[in-house]
Amino acid sequence: MHPTCNRILLLILFLQCTLISLAQTFISDMEQMKWEKVAPGIWKTTIGEMDLNPLDYSAPSKTQALTDLGDPAFPFNMEATLSQKTKERIVVRLPLGEQEKIYGLGLEFESINRRSNVYTLKVDHYGGVKGYTHAPVPFYISSEGYGVLINSAKRVKIHVGVGNRKDSHLPPYVDRTTGGSAWQARPTSDAVEASIQGEGLEVYVFSGASPLEVVQRYNLFCGGGVLPPKWGLGFWHRMHTQSSDEDVLQEIRDFEENNFPLSVIGLEPGWQSFAYPCSFDWDTTRFPDPKGFLNTMTDRGIKINLWENPYVAPTSTMYDPIKPYTGSHTVWLGEVPDYTIPEAREVLLDHHQKNHLDIGVSGYKFDEVDGYDQWLWPDHATFPSGYDAVEIRQLYGTIIQNTFTEHFRKQNQRTYGLVRSSYVGASNQSFVIYSDYYGHKGYVTALVNSSLAGILWTPEIRSANSSEEWVRRFQTVCFSPLMMLNAWSSGLKPWSFPEVTDIVRENIELRIRLMPYLYTAFHTYEQQGVPPFRAMVLEKGFESTTKKVGGTLDDVKNPYAEQALLEVTDQYMMGPSILVAPVFTGETERKVVLPAGNWYDFYSGALVGNGETITIQPTLDKIPLFVKDGALIPMLSTLDVEDTDQTLEVRYYGTKPGSFRLYNDDGNSFDYESGEFTITDLAVSVKKNKLKGTQKVSNDLGYGYKQVEWVWIGR
Ligand code: GAL
Repeated sequence: MHPTCNRILLLILFLQCTLISLAQTFISDMEQMKWEKVAPGIWKTTIGEMDLNPLDYSAPSKTQALTDLGDPAFPFNMEATLSQKTKERIVVRLPLGEQEKIYGLGLEFESINRRSNVYTLKVDHYGGVKGYTHAPVPFYISSEGYGVLINSAKRVKIHVGVGNRKDSHLPPYVDRTTGGSAWQARPTSDAVEASIQGEGLEVYVFSGASPLEVVQRYNLFCGGGVLPPKWGLGFWHRMHTQSSDEDVLQEIRDFEENNFPLSVIGLEPGWQSFAYPCSFDWDTTRFPDPKGFLNTMTDRGIKINLWENPYVAPTSTMYDPIKPYTGSHTVWLGEVPDYTIPEAREVLLDHHQKNHLDIGVSGYKFDEVDGYDQWLWPDHATFPSGYDAVEIRQLYGTIIQNTFTEHFRKQNQRTYGLVRSSYVGASNQSFVIYSDYYGHKGYVTALVNSSLAGILWTPEIRSANSSEEWVRRFQTVCFSPLMMLNAWSSGLKPWSFPEVTDIVRENIELRIRLMPYLYTAFHTYEQQGVPPFRAMVLEKGFESTTKKVGGTLDDVKNPYAEQALLEVTDQYMMGPSILVAPVFTGETERKVVLPAGNWYDFYSGALVGNGETITIQPTLDKIPLFVKDGALIPMLSTLDVEDTDQTLEVRYYGTKPGSFRLYNDDGNSFDYESGEFTITDLAVSVKKNKLKGTQKVSNDLGYGYKQVEWVWIGR
């Protein structure tokens, strides 16, 4: 090349670079973020100084598993990550491509798409404002394969692809014709902008080859998923709030008589001498001999879970010791402990250990750790630690979860319980979220969203208006992280709708028989961060059907001609191979979106489709379940989840060769962390359309299944 051409080229290059950097700095008052790599595929930036750090209440990262996931590059243009500190706020701005889909931001009940909206992420009951929910986790995931965590205990306000800066270097296309068809009420912006009112925050970026890998990295960074005790995956029944020890015994007899499995009994407010606020002490009229009662429960093989809220009644035996560590305001006239103070946590644990855990209580349901404003302390309340009341509210449920998760771990005993609020870094906590919101569809969408937020959710059943609704809700709850009838108010039993009792029983039994499959899925959650119940958008081969619909200008219904997004919020994956498509009351048919590859009906083994949307006409007795090609589904042949001498039924679906690494351990302790577990390798080979199944037990510590019955389903 001629030297002059060379010089011209260099000049053009120089001008381009200058223009680009001018464009960057032209986001006038914002500064470029400086990223520090904190683990393979994870970067962090710190702006200002943080007050309470949510991640201080999560488990240590699983560093080996993070390394095993690989070391991808920073996922987007670092130069386009900007921050700003004003007198009032910290603002961050991260790039967003026009075609990117954004998911996450916590436990939402209506949709999974987060674009073109603004969220105020506040721990509260669900509803009211977008982002007010039980677990408003400020972590989002892009379809492009990265995730962002805005780590702050303040309420994060986040604008996802809306709100255009004048100096943005990628402004949206503008249709200036009056009534032009491309006019948008919310013009697409090229950024996610988030802010907090406070002194400091951290931003983490998680890279990944797919949205699932991003979620895995986030979960592993927060300590991996939780492995519940086996009993936690059995059937839970919460008693009517005023039940006594005698009522519980009768209930257990009724379960036996009606031939229903039962693993956990939940006691609601009435077990305590006072409940709103709480005494945390037994009500001696209903439970005159708690120790004797718990002994009987242990003999019967039933675990007891206790309900409570955190607010301390003046009549509580915990009142005097906790008083020095409480805030300026009360809740229902009870003291509000400041559990950021280690001494306060000690008082709580000490009381609970002596009065409940020492006599055999298995865990708790922590209620009322979320909202409403009119019940809880005001934002201007003060606490002895000096932390902001807003932050204490945001982390209340998380700190309690963490306190008990760690405590149980120290006793080498696993727990599994319930909590009504959660936040950042909770995947390793032994708790499942629930709500008073009772929409069945919303419950399924919440289950979908929970997998995008590092939390577990139960679509608990409480009551129903018809036997059909009873069955449909029961089916959903049987295919969720915690199978529970919460009869605290209704007093209902699984057999309360006699015409469908057999159907309900069969669904519960199916879930229990799936224990080997499900327990292994939880092990994968714990080890690799793969959520056991997952949104379809995390599934390989799933092209989200998200597309714009509607948008006709109508001066009454839709004066701004907004379009809605169609998305898949009513089906999900359970474990590696089962797609669950719950049915809602009144539906005689439903659509199911199948990812690429052959899919088979779980019950019959019939081929149902491949990478397409099918319409099914489900019968009442079964929840529609579909299985991937080559999948192996290990199932118990009895309902005894401990017995490894029973024959393991392994169903095989489809035509491809397949394998399954079946995990098993003592189901109760943390001994698995020091190698106390057994793997049974199951495999199916296909030769000339002939199937052959093999099993190999390794590290045989007595948790392997030796007898296997292969079921070539559908053949
Ligand atoms: C509610 C809770 C219910 C039940 C009830 C008892 O706050 O969501 O599940 O426990 O309290 O009073």
